[in-house]
Amino acid sequence: MKQADTANRKLVLAERPKGEPTLDTLRLEEEAIPSVGDNQMLLRTEYLSLDPYMRGRMSDAPSYAAPVEVGDVMVGGTVAKVVTSKLDGFAVGDWVLSQNGWQDYALSDGDGVTNLGASPEHPSWALGILGMPGFTAWAGLTQIGEPKPGETIVVAAATGPVGATVGQIGKLLGCRVVGIAGGPEKCAYAVDELGFDACIDHKAEDFADQLTKANPDGIDVYFENVGGKVLDAVIQLLNPHARVPVCGLVSQYNATELPSGPDRMNWLMGQILRNKIKVQGFIIFDSFGHLYPDFAKQMGTWVEGGKIKYREEVIDGLENAPEAFFGLLNGENFGKRVIRVGQN
Ligand SMILES: NC(=O)c1ccc[n+]([C@@H]2O[C@H](COP(=O)([O-])OP(=O)(O)OC[C@H]3O[C@@H](n4cnc5c(N)ncnc54)[C@H](OP(=O)(O)O)[C@@H]3O)[C@@H](O)[C@H]2O)c1
Repeated sequence: MKQADTANRKLVLAERPKGEPTLDTLRLEEEAIPSVGDNQMLLRTEYLSLDPYMRGRMSDAPSYAAPVEVGDVMVGGTVAKVVTSKLDGFAVGDWVLSQNGWQDYALSDGDGVTNLGASPEHPSWALGILGMPGFTAWAGLTQIGEPKPGETIVVAAATGPVGATVGQIGKLLGCRVVGIAGGPEKCAYAVDELGFDACIDHKAEDFADQLTKANPDGIDVYFENVGGKVLDAVIQLLNPHARVPVCGLVSQYNATELPSGPDRMNWLMGQILRNKIKVQGFIIFDSFGHLYPDFAKQMGTWVEGGKIKYREEVIDGLENAPEAFFGLLNGENFGKRVIRVGQN
């Protein structure tokens, strides 16, 4: 059943996954569309963002954010339209950036909702390059990575919304940029379309050798998106005074135990010590929320001027969100994955 004005479809967390989520993890339910009270508005979801952090919210392991409770609607960033409004500043038909979660309709009191106006040029981009992932790339790279012209930046998940943006900003700042991506097609895109200097396929058998060859002067900034064997291969290439913004570890999000040995922890710490490397984690809005206006201004100018490219992969239908999300964790996406929930 498609989105309708007669009922609210919602995907709720049915059970906490152990390892990879499955079709039993989420359940599609239907309920009445809620009625709007004073100082409220009703939002209809047009686009739902799929992001790796959502895997963490399915678990109840300690984290920086509370888990989704079993039976509750999955959380998620959305671009929505105002259907009914009893709230100043939001008119019927306005597009908004909101947190409706994985459902057709949500009530809002306007808290944390950004009005995108009556006809934004690319409404869904507020979930990607002009929103949280773009901000993550910009802030993590400039505030922690502190790249200087001529330095080498390495970033994995290089064609995703964060990695592709990190690499393109790196080029704008005069750096050499080496991407890491899953497969030759993604790597060709990173070099030919995004302007990376090189891109290495992490699925290649000789991945670590290729990465070494692609970084003859070592690595000054490693923007950590994935962890796992990519991190293993990077550690030995980090230069003295390298900076490592720790943004994500997507290769580990479905892991149920620590990776098998040998234990590299003391080697990693030794490298950090000997090379005086800065390793710093960040959670984008907690760490850098105050810089959002600076980001919005800078990125808006870059995107408008064609300096930064953005690739989006749109999948139709809320009912297809679970499988699309599982695929995202395994690299099936090519660009920023969003679900078109509405009929727009
Ligand atoms: N700290 C924060 O506040 C914050 C905010 C936003 C995002 N993040 C993190 O940033 C990272 C990128 O996010 P995104 O939205 O741009 O995701 P994304 O690139 O759209 O999707 C994740 C990508 O990770 C790659 N991947 C998956 N398993 C891998 C593995 N075993 N080894 C190497 N690569 C693997 C895949 O790309 P390939 O096919 O190219 O390998 C996949 O497409 C994620 O770790 C996310 O959690 C952090």
